[in-house]
Amino acid sequence: MPATILVGAQWGDEGKGRVADWLAGESEVVARFAGGDNAGHTVVVGEKVYKLHLVPSGILHPGITCVLGNGMVINPVNLIREMDGLQASGVDMSPERLVISTRAHIITPAHIALDGASEKARGDQAIGTTLRGIGPAYLDKTGRKGIRAGQMADVEEFANALYDSIEQANRVLAEHGVEPLDPQAAAAVYVDAAARLKPYLRDTSVYLNQRLKTGARVLCEGAQGTLLDVDHGDYPFVTSSSPTAGGALTGLGFGPCHVDRVVGVAKSFSTRVGGGPMPTELHGELGDRLRGTGENFWDEYGTTTGRPRRCGWLDAVVLRYAAQINGFTELVLTKLDVLSGFDELKIALAYEIDGKRVDYPPSTVAELERATPVYESLAGWSADISRIQAAADLPEATRAYIRHIEALCDVPVPMVSVGPERDQVVFF
Ligand code: GDP
Ligand code: IMO
Ligand code: MG
Repeated sequence: MPATILVGAQWGDEGKGRVADWLAGESEVVARFAGGDNAGHTVVVGEKVYKLHLVPSGILHPGITCVLGNGMVINPVNLIREMDGLQASGVDMSPERLVISTRAHIITPAHIALDGASEKARGDQAIGTTLRGIGPAYLDKTGRKGIRAGQMADVEEFANALYDSIEQANRVLAEHGVEPLDPQAAAAVYVDAAARLKPYLRDTSVYLNQRLKTGARVLCEGAQGTLLDVDHGDYPFVTSSSPTAGGALTGLGFGPCHVDRVVGVAKSFSTRVGGGPMPTELHGELGDRLRGTGENFWDEYGTTTGRPRRCGWLDAVVLRYAAQINGFTELVLTKLDVLSGFDELKIALAYEIDGKRVDYPPSTVAELERATPVYESLAGWSADISRIQAAADLPEATRAYIRHIEALCDVPVPMVSVGPERDQVVFF
């Protein structure tokens, strides 16, 4: 039985968590392959709202094994906090349910301090990171001086590696005029977390290949989104990993022969949190309407940082590009219910840059900042669609909106969501 890769088609927060929760129902293993606790995946199960940052959404289905793959960067203290929170809500967090790659990298207190200092130094060019230490941790990984999760097995070695990392960071922090960290105090809490995580450590590539060989279906749960990819996104306003389909293979350690589905998740409009270009961003009343008031947990305020998300019309240039980069076999559209009540809906078909029409995002931020969307206008619908269960019961204008997106991306849309709860989905 093969693997399914699920990735975000836009700038993150597309609703991957809720779609992963759906696909987990057909899986035996759910694995995260990139990023760290910069992710915030919301899953609603009955009355409970779970906000997952490191633990894959599959954990909410009994019997599934979850994997934190080698492509991830893990803050052990925040992982323990999340595991304890899940355990307190009645989720079994024993080592049979979660395995952590010995090759994943560790986010240290030094990385978090450096993330803050580097953002400050960028001034008005700040990326708007989640300040979780993601960039500095990947920098140490590719600079071949990172600490790997496997080192947590030897607490003394781990503590020494942490001291070194903090002392090195202190020299850089001093250049930024930032107070140094106390290595002993900063490391103590990490060492406790490491001792607790030891039983969960494993060679997850060997584990996944064994499970695939014996017929298990593996769901690779993406974090972030295609336009935040360090290669394919709006560099430098990106994260520091590869959250696209290719990243699933390197981030987990199995071959492409196992993959038979690549599911893209896109919100029915666009949102972005943090800095960087967003050609279809709406300021004023329309953007505010898409964002919501903040009264509901699904309104557009960051799951990880609480920041208001920038909102705008759907951008088919982005979706077409994401379909190509990832090789989507299907696309799931979320939050269609939020579009009820708009008289007209717009979709960007292309950009105009310096008088020329372009169908794919240009590679430089400077060009993207000059991009004007070429919009197409579609009829809106007024009905509340949030309790509709059958495709035939959706308003004709809703079905036309979905069909149009399918045509623009040349990818089928077999499922849409019309609310955050498990049963608020419609299949075609
Ligand atoms: P992720 O990071 O891609 O998993 O997405 P987030 O969880 O950060 O953000 C998606 C938000 O939209 C969450 O608050 C979800 O509960 C909510 N959501 C997901 N699907 C729907 C939907 O169809 N309708 C509504 N109203 N909210 C949704
Ligand atoms: P999920 O998995 C939305 C954004 C940050 C910032 C940029 C770099 O919930 O979709 P980082 O802390 O990674 O160095 O920040 O990437 N970002 C996300 N935006 N959803 C996410 O995750 C994100 N993870 C990072 O806002 O612009
Ligand atoms: Mg999110």
